[in-house]
Amino acid sequence: MNTNPVFVALDTTDPDYARQLAERVRPSVGGLKLGLEFFNAHGPDGVRPFLEMGLPVFLDLKYHDIPNTVAGACRAAAALGVSILNVHAQGGAAMMRAALEAVKSVSPSTRLIAVTMLTSLSDEDLPSVGLTPPVGDQVLRLASLTQQCGLDGVVCSAHEIATLRRELGPDFQLIVPGIRPEGSATGDQRRVMGPAQARDAGASVLVIGRPITAATDPARAAREIAQSLGITAA
Ligand code: C5P
Repeated sequence: MNTNPVFVALDTTDPDYARQLAERVRPSVGGLKLGLEFFNAHGPDGVRPFLEMGLPVFLDLKYHDIPNTVAGACRAAAALGVSILNVHAQGGAAMMRAALEAVKSVSPSTRLIAVTMLTSLSDEDLPSVGLTPPVGDQVLRLASLTQQCGLDGVVCSAHEIATLRRELGPDFQLIVPGIRPEGSATGDQRRVMGPAQARDAGASVLVIGRPITAATDPARAAREIAQSLGITAA
């Protein structure tokens, strides 16, 4: 895996624009993230050109279904050759174990991670879905379950890094969105942190979208983030 921890989130349905963006920022990022928006518009054939660029690809589709169905989806996605795939930890232990077996049987190097609690949910939302606040306790419980099931890591907010790193050890992957370099717009992200601060707190991967993709000069924005992490462009 490239030592640059930044995965740029290509959140668009326009494949040409996504490709152009990826080409422009490529020297200064460690990977590309394609999500539901892109995948639902273009499917596996839309993903392949990004795999051919030679950077690791995180396919962020957050599977949540019965074990057999999620295993099948994971097998198909892993066969594409992506580097990171994810499921919802709330799908339960049997689902996560089935997903892991499916992924590793097809592509041992693909990392399978779990989403614990969506960062869009806050303490007030939990009782209505049958859960007890605070969110942080649910995150730790689900992240521990994820680790017990043998998965490679979790997606977490920057403010959960320190606790999860302490409780789950140095090898568990912490994939962190909501990263905002100083001076960039927060947008709809509420709990944000700077790239170097998140990396130093123990993040394994920094998922960064709009601070790069919505910048006037995305190549420069990506380069400045890499520099702030002490990484020189490839
Ligand atoms: O533009 P921005 O930097 O906020 O993009 C963050 C990316 O991380 C988006 O693709 C978003 O869907 C994703 N993400 C997130 N929070 C999560 C999981 C994924 O923001 N809990």
